Amino acid sequence: MTRIFAGNWKMHLGPAAAAAFLDRFLQRYDGSADREVWFFAPAVSVMTVAETVRGRAGIRVGIQNVHWEEQGAFTGETSVRMAAEAGATAALVGHSERRHVFGETDAETGLKVRALLAGGLIPMLCVGERLEEREREETLDVVLRQLRVLDGLDADEIARVRVAYEPVWAIGTGRNASPEDAATVHAAIRAELVRLGMPVEAAQVLYGGSVKPDNVGSLVAQAEIDGVLVGGASLDPDSWQRIVAVSLD
Ligand code: PGA
Repeated sequence: MTRIFAGNWKMHLGPAAAAAFLDRFLQRYDGSADREVWFFAPAVSVMTVAETVRGRAGIRVGIQNVHWEEQGAFTGETSVRMAAEAGATAALVGHSERRHVFGETDAETGLKVRALLAGGLIPMLCVGERLEEREREETLDVVLRQLRVLDGLDADEIARVRVAYEPVWAIGTGRNASPEDAATVHAAIRAELVRLGMPVEAAQVLYGGSVKPDNVGSLVAQAEIDGVLVGGASLDPDSWQRIVAVSLD
């Protein structure tokens, strides 16, 4: 299965900085049939990124958040159609910062997933437990509850969803889940996706949370880990280059 290396730029890299980043990154990126590189750019940079990577095989541009309504009085929000028009073909949904900093609920992530599918974009649904939930051994309960928003999607729809497992305590902390622990959660997520109707070969589950050039190899070496979603280490072209070039043998 093609592995996905996705960068989540968060609130970094406006249009000028994004263009400078890509200029440097693309000079050394040749592409490779066994992997795809995705960029989740800030809304204002999506168009610049999409235009800069146009024609490059294996690179996808996404947005970090959308609203589920088509249009209207929603100050500060971006619709799916607007994101698509700017060149996005994917979107993050339910990132832990959306959930825990901005109070996004499971009901809202469900609406966003459906709006994205209706608009032809790929939703990358992020799930993950907080530290106190992990300590109470509730990791699988939390993750499975967050996946429940996919209930009721038809077979074609669910096959287009991607999932990123991002333990909240691992995001931006320098503390990644051990590859073995992550793989256990990934296996549970994959089983749930299949139960919900996703064909096994379509079930792609990424790991996110303090992925760096020096730990990416041990993570993607796990058969259960189909790619990575990277925040901090995706912002520097050199570190990103080292991550996406990791050996998959
Ligand atoms: P991090 O962020 O790689 O900086 O931990 C990951 C994410 O939030 O997607």
